[in-house]
Amino acid sequence: MSDLGRSAPVRSFARIALSIGVAALATQLVGCGKKAAVDEELAAKLVQPVARVELAAAPAAAPGSRKGEDIFKAVCSACHETGAAGAPKAGDKAAWGPRIAQGYDTLVKSAAAGKNAMPPRGGAADLTDDELKRAVAFLANKAGAGFKAPD
Ligand code: HEC
Repeated sequence: MSDLGRSAPVRSFARIALSIGVAALATQLVGCGKKAAVDEELAAKLVQPVARVELAAAPAAAPGSRKGEDIFKAVCSACHETGAAGAPKAGDKAAWGPRIAQGYDTLVKSAAAGKNAMPPRGGAADLTDDELKRAVAFLANKAGAGFKAPD
């Protein structure tokens, strides 16, 4: 009997200690879960402006100073690399020969105004005239035109 008398308080102390421990652990786990969720949201918010700036900077140079090759890659290649919408493919001499024969100025005018399935300026309304000329020269020169674009 004396054994039971002694062990009962010990057991209940152990139970209390255990439940405090479990409660503390549970609180920590819940706390951790919430903290992680908040951190993820915060991280997403912090990353967003950086991602936006990178997207906006994608054409690399400032408007007006973009190179023909960069414009081609960013805008014109969508059709002229693949031949999409019936576009004459870059470097296809048979397709470009008769067009090149029209002359640089005529090609620039077509590209500026748009032609059939090609929207004006290839859809990039912010291209300056010089930039468009550079892109046309880059594209036509791939098929052997030898046009001299403005710097
Ligand atoms: C949405 C597709 C598309 C995009 C983007 C596009 N083109 Fe075209 N392009 C065409 C098609 C289609 C033609 C053929 C038009 C025709 O003769 O019927 C063409 C033709 C041309 C021609 C020949 C015009 C002529 O008079 O024969 C030039 C030059 C040209 N594109 C330059 C460009 C340049 C430079 C860009 C980028 C700034 C560009 N294109 C972007 C579809 C596109």
